[in-house]
Amino acid sequence: MTTLRLKTSSPVFNVSPSHYDLAWWQTGIIYEVYPRSFQDSDGDGVGDLRGIQQRLGYLRDLGVDAIWITPFFRSPMADFGYDVSDYCAIDPIFGTMDDFDALLADAHAMGIRVIVDFVPNHTSDQHPWFIESRSSCENPKRDWYIWKDPNPDGTPPNNWEGFFGGSAWTLDERTGQYYLHMFLEQQPDLNWRNPDVIAAMSDVLHFWLKKGVDGFRLDAITILIKHEDFPDMPLDADGTLYGGDLLLQLVDVHNQPDLHPILRRFRAITDSYPGDRVLIAETGAANFDELMQFCGSQLDEVQLPMNLNTMLLPWDARMMRDSISDYYACLLPGAVPNFVFGNHDQSRFATRFGDQHHRAINALLMTLWGAPTLYYGDELGMPDGRILPHQQKDPFTVQYSDFGLGRDPERTPMQWDETPNAGFTPPNVEPWLPIRTTFASSVAAQSADPVSTLHFCKRLIQLRRQYRALNRGSIQFVDDHHPDLLIYLREFEDERILILVNFGALLHSVDASTFASRAELLLTSRMDTPMTQSADSISLRPYETLLLKLVQEVNPDD
Ligand code: NOJ
Repeated sequence: MTTLRLKTSSPVFNVSPSHYDLAWWQTGIIYEVYPRSFQDSDGDGVGDLRGIQQRLGYLRDLGVDAIWITPFFRSPMADFGYDVSDYCAIDPIFGTMDDFDALLADAHAMGIRVIVDFVPNHTSDQHPWFIESRSSCENPKRDWYIWKDPNPDGTPPNNWEGFFGGSAWTLDERTGQYYLHMFLEQQPDLNWRNPDVIAAMSDVLHFWLKKGVDGFRLDAITILIKHEDFPDMPLDADGTLYGGDLLLQLVDVHNQPDLHPILRRFRAITDSYPGDRVLIAETGAANFDELMQFCGSQLDEVQLPMNLNTMLLPWDARMMRDSISDYYACLLPGAVPNFVFGNHDQSRFATRFGDQHHRAINALLMTLWGAPTLYYGDELGMPDGRILPHQQKDPFTVQYSDFGLGRDPERTPMQWDETPNAGFTPPNVEPWLPIRTTFASSVAAQSADPVSTLHFCKRLIQLRRQYRALNRGSIQFVDDHHPDLLIYLREFEDERILILVNFGALLHSVDASTFASRAELLLTSRMDTPMTQSADSISLRPYETLLLKLVQEVNPDD
């Protein structure tokens, strides 16, 4: 076994002195709750707002700063809430407005902020605006959506395909025009070039801000503004479409400068309320320069355009390091990075990377410089659920069979305890998606096990809160581009913490004596008695993650 001597030749990111006084969202942990699957309070097999309220104590003890709740607004549920038919009402399946108010009040009383999902690109086809819009070509709301005449041969206006498959256009037989929908045909796209749409949707933001929500996660903003000419997508040599990335370019932030005034307006609205409200955005960006465009050149648009790129990487230390370094290098001065390793649209990382690695990913999430978003259940290392064909619910799979398992596996209910239905819903009720039963990962089981992933995550979060080096310090990769090891130093004033992640199955030895005379163990992902560590010979076992506090002892004789 050779010893890796740590190097300081890589760039140091985040050396700005402005990191003393930070807004909560610049360091805080955001926890994503998929409300259908978190906690059912009324025994119908679907999670709800009262259920979330009942579990706030768990979230407080876990140590999160905010919850982002995916849509719970009135909806026909064609896309499980991302098809909104009333932006200012609660869908009965999730409860009532009183339930929401009670949840918000309790969360705030516990110091937990609440972020709601705002779905501006499209409404439900059952939204009164669309019902009016489709009623006639002369209806005043006709132009609130995107309507086009068919081609002379009756085919759709262009060859765009929706992200869920099939043409992005559906013919309305009665009025003889096509409407655009970048997702399901039940999700018609709003026309954001119409000032009335901007005004009506701005009212929605005011409605929730007045209630006291702490910010919004903006859904699918990349495609909010479409190319004015609606050009056909170019075809491959074999006559097929180039695919989604190109489509994004036809509608995206680079080609459509009109998006920026809209984002600035959203930001001006949230900024007009007291108390550090935040805009987080779901963004599709080909690279980090593009991602930064959503912040606005004056940082006056979205505060946290979600970095979804890192989530899509394979289990590879070099690729992770390159992606993370590129991201930091592309940040506009003053912009705050953020990391997401799991959400309701992607297979869970415990499944993607395997059971060996979910602790390492949680450690990256909590110790990289940036604002972390933690998806419910990932703190348990929860894997994807198993969904049998007759149990599938996601329209991805139900309507378009070529999408394999769709997104159901990552949306299965939270596992609270070891009883039938895992404490999510009563034992005699059928949950909306099956609960994973083959893996003992419940909150109760892990709470009783001092070496569990849950305890590991809680400890990570405590350390993140305790050490400014971790929540706001600078970061430097010091691993000399090792193929198996990702090692970085977080530093703030005299605090220095070294994070070491072993991506491989071999034992490694690391020499950190250039930085310190002593290395104190803060945490190991093994949650066991560590191997003895000295700064010049740090042992890193297969797949282990270590957090070490570096100490430079001053020799009294010096
Ligand atoms: C992104 C959301 O995360 C996804 O779940 C949804 O289906 C689409 N936007 C459409 O709203």
